[in-house]
Amino acid sequence: CGIVGIIGTRSVAPLLVDALKRLEYRGYDSAGVATLEDGHLDRRRAEGKLSNLEAKLSDSPLGGHIGIGHTRWATHGVPNETNAHPHFSTPVAIVHNGIIENFAELRQELKANGYEFATQTDTEVVAHLVSSLTKAGREPVAAAQEAISRLRGAFAIAMLFEGEDDLIIGARNGPPLAIGHGEDEMYLGSDAIALSPFTDSITYLEDGDFAVIRSGGVDIFDAQGQKVARQAQKSSTGAIVVDRGNYRHFMQKEILEQPEVVSHTLAYYLDLANGAPRQIDSSIDFASIKRLSISACGTAYYAGLIGKYWLERFARLPVDIDIASEFRYREMPLDAGDAALFISQSGETADTLASLRYCKGEGLKIGAVVNVRESTIAREADTIFPTLAGPEIGVASTKAFTCQLASLASLTIHAAKARGTLDEETIAEMVHGLMELPRLMTKTLKVEQDIVGLSRELAHATDVLYLGRDTAFPLAMEGALKLKEISYIHAEGYAAGELKHGPIALIDEDLPVIVIAPYDAVFEKTVSNMQEVAARGGKIILITDAKGAAASSVDTLKTIVMPDVPAFVAPIVYALPIQLLAYHTAVFMGTDVDQPRNLAKSVTVE
Ligand code: G6P
Repeated sequence: CGIVGIIGTRSVAPLLVDALKRLEYRGYDSAGVATLEDGHLDRRRAEGKLSNLEAKLSDSPLGGHIGIGHTRWATHGVPNETNAHPHFSTPVAIVHNGIIENFAELRQELKANGYEFATQTDTEVVAHLVSSLTKAGREPVAAAQEAISRLRGAFAIAMLFEGEDDLIIGARNGPPLAIGHGEDEMYLGSDAIALSPFTDSITYLEDGDFAVIRSGGVDIFDAQGQKVARQAQKSSTGAIVVDRGNYRHFMQKEILEQPEVVSHTLAYYLDLANGAPRQIDSSIDFASIKRLSISACGTAYYAGLIGKYWLERFARLPVDIDIASEFRYREMPLDAGDAALFISQSGETADTLASLRYCKGEGLKIGAVVNVRESTIAREADTIFPTLAGPEIGVASTKAFTCQLASLASLTIHAAKARGTLDEETIAEMVHGLMELPRLMTKTLKVEQDIVGLSRELAHATDVLYLGRDTAFPLAMEGALKLKEISYIHAEGYAAGELKHGPIALIDEDLPVIVIAPYDAVFEKTVSNMQEVAARGGKIILITDAKGAAASSVDTLKTIVMPDVPAFVAPIVYALPIQLLAYHTAVFMGTDVDQPRNLAKSVTVE
């Protein structure tokens, strides 16, 4: 899931591992490095964590000043050492992210030419293909270029050649790849974060690009084989220390920094000194569009669902929302006069990007709520609506989610103003509610102690149900997702009113039911549903405010009392206990919180 490459002036194996560590946050299940020493290729690979690879390297070190490295998130073939990258086929070593769609066909062809396959991976096919082309007489660069031109699918690839101690090939078609320019050294990496210890001068490859990297610089060719000039940019990630500080996990650090990063995000959209929305750059004309289509994946999708409630209620703007993997194939009618919004932390999620390109092709105006401003989604959108969460390292999204909500809430106010659906006074109240968020979130984080106790109970559950109405419904789904992701406990989020249409059959004394219910317009309705759970012996954990706690007559296992918050911003504040509950349950169970099994931070495959 992460690629690095270095043409250096010193021993590169430890540097490659260092760079891979900075990509750990993307999730992976095996890792490996290959270097060239005196013209000879050698590699070390290991299943599991990078510490296993480091142990191998310390037992049997790799020399050499040029090398490539990889962390793998299995697509084709189980995560073991054999399937780990780099893959070798004389004279080439290859690392690869993504999926080669025509690998079966190429494999047949190569088998017919006498190649034997040691793994089930699609990557090995690329290695053999390059090898077969060099055997047919092509020079390394030409062989690599011809091989890449035969691949279908989404991939980022790096290659190293035996006997070529000043050459790394990089190719991108889908997953991102960045080239770093150092002093007498050149680098390749999946993102600028991986390269930040070495350089802040970064060139991003575009889709279809093929890069020939040598110590003196890089030549880049586009999909048509034309040499192109791509500007190097100063990356801001250099200054960011991707460091856990005193925290036990990145996720904990990221949960606790939410008041701060939400305020950074809000400051982009709101004039905090005057309590008014700012003019924001937008190629989307919210006054004239008839419909907005939102697509996203995972946590970003739930943020979008909450955005739909807000945009429809306050800006009277009809919103369609889809999971991006569904949207891209479902051929819905779209109107070129309308707009589409894509929400993504990484800005690289393959399905979200494909949906964006589809809408662009249909002539819609494209907005993107993204956290990584140099990402592909950010670059291809007409307008970026940024979240300023800073790098999110924990695989389970937390601060990116609340920052996405802060952006969407701000956009709602912007759209309502443009469409004339709210009076000045209401707008001022809503802005004021948002401005109070950092304070309310800080106050809310004090419920952590209550939650630690509760998580011990939850850790014994095999299933957990989350219920909510209105904007607490998407939040219920997000809560269930968080718990599933990091504690591996099965959980479902349901609309409280839908309980009686199915999940009520599951209720017994072993099933914890977490009810998210601020004291708002639908509170009474949610209490009725809670009553239905209580009547069947279900264990209720109620998350509400003081008014709600006083008004509910239902017995609960535990009531978490939140500060009073304006209804508009409630989902942003109520996200915190939900995240903390998942976090502490996972810690109690001893799972790998920041890198849960099977999950990847940035999913650049379909
Ligand atoms: C992965 C991550 C999730 C994330 C989703 C969408 O599944 O594990 O945490 O919500 O991708 O990612 P994006 O970067 O597009 O927000």
